[in-house]
Amino acid sequence: MAKNTLSFVCQNCGAAYNRWQGKCESCGEWNTLAEEDTTGSVPVSIRSKRKGRTFALESLSGKTQDAPRLSSGMTELDRVTGGGFVRGSVLLVGGDPGIGKSTLLTQATSLMARAGHRIVYISGEEAIAQVRLRAERLGLSDAPVQLAAETSVEDIVSTLSEGAVPRLIVIDSIQTMWTDTVESAPGTVTQVRASAQALIRFAKKTGAAIILVGHVTKDGQIAGPRVVEHMVDAVLSFEGEGSQQFRILRAVKNRFGPTDEIGVFEMTGLGLREVTNPSELFLSERDLGTPGTAVFAGIEGTRPLLVELQALVAPTSLGTPRRAVVGWDPSRLSMVLAVLEAHCGVKLSGHDVYLNVAGGLRIHEPAADLAAAAALVSSLVNAQLPTDAVYFGEISLSGVVRPVAQTPARLKEAAKLGFQHAVLPESARGEVGGDAGLSLNAINSLTTLVAEIAARGSRRGESSAPAEKNATPPRFRRGEG
Ligand code: TYD
Ligand code: MG
Repeated sequence: MAKNTLSFVCQNCGAAYNRWQGKCESCGEWNTLAEEDTTGSVPVSIRSKRKGRTFALESLSGKTQDAPRLSSGMTELDRVTGGGFVRGSVLLVGGDPGIGKSTLLTQATSLMARAGHRIVYISGEEAIAQVRLRAERLGLSDAPVQLAAETSVEDIVSTLSEGAVPRLIVIDSIQTMWTDTVESAPGTVTQVRASAQALIRFAKKTGAAIILVGHVTKDGQIAGPRVVEHMVDAVLSFEGEGSQQFRILRAVKNRFGPTDEIGVFEMTGLGLREVTNPSELFLSERDLGTPGTAVFAGIEGTRPLLVELQALVAPTSLGTPRRAVVGWDPSRLSMVLAVLEAHCGVKLSGHDVYLNVAGGLRIHEPAADLAAAAALVSSLVNAQLPTDAVYFGEISLSGVVRPVAQTPARLKEAAKLGFQHAVLPESARGEVGGDAGLSLNAINSLTTLVAEIAARGSRRGESSAPAEKNATPPRFRRGEG
């Protein structure tokens, strides 16, 4: 007889305990243990009697059906997956509720179905009528996507085993799926893991690609199925600030492609629009002529991306001044502030400091140090930076400006968008072959930059200012495609 084993499973990391406790010792989270029936995903009766079958072992060099990729018909999505969906692969797409996961996948599946592939969309959250309503709004109701509102993994697998193998199956979402092989409630770690396992097995066996949609908890973890992240081939995260229309699709893990690429979309009344030139979008609403803003020439994956950093430095009334940052690493901000204070004589301990990356983008590169420092000093001394300059470079703890990768690509993008000057590390100048298209201000130490900005501050109000104001700013018109 199968003995039911009840135990307490952490809903965050999947660790199991045989009694309840407040804190999970494995991942350190509080109040995440829930009582679950953890009888194995294969019934005990089968487990004990089944005799192992023999299988053929292969050589590394054998002829394998190559891994053809299925293009999604959306350039930005293909960029993040590494060129399309690989046969038999399983992707997890995570993101906050309402960010646009279902919209993105409805658009992509419709394009693929129109291209003649068998595409199946299983919605576990919305009724068929709701999915249809969305497709209608997107102008895609004529696409031959095969639709179902189902949540039982066994039913889904046996339905899809009939007829031609689907090229792509979307499961929206994995938290709503349940399987008979385990007895816990849907949405628990055990159910999510067992359902994902069954679907992954189906993908590997048949060669159909599967996209699992996963919900994200408030601290950004894909809820419950953190365990699923290890099982799938790729994890994509769909991000964006709720109030902003920009959406960024980022590869967190990818067995078949790069992990640092991003896809940029804009949410419109007619669904997601692909943004092929994100720099233009992120710079389209610049506050020209205010102190405290600097344009950072960054790189996301293989693509250069220009974005504005905004800083506000204001005298504080608090004992401990505030440090608030949106879109950048707070510990990098602390480091830049410490270097400014220790090596450049910029006293900020009596000031609140706010730093924001415009457009809802998150920057991960240390190359943003120099632009952040420029924006901070500009705000402190109330001196506007040249509107046609870009900044990039990493700052070391000794105040030296260190070189960063891909200098030519950054300069090329800046020149393309009409910028005239670049402030960059001295040691990166060697990488710039011939004419860069901009005037370069190569600096070796952060002190030099601080002195230059401070000089602009003291010049303000004198006769040299009007020339600066009249300089034509670069064009930031939004591209049409
Ligand atoms: P949805 O794809 O349902 O999000 P998710 O599946 O990630 O929960 O998107 C919901 C939001 O997108 C909703 O707030 C409305 C908005 N939206 C638009 O702005 N335009 C559109 O064309 C569509 C379909 C949705
Ligand atoms: Mg949805």
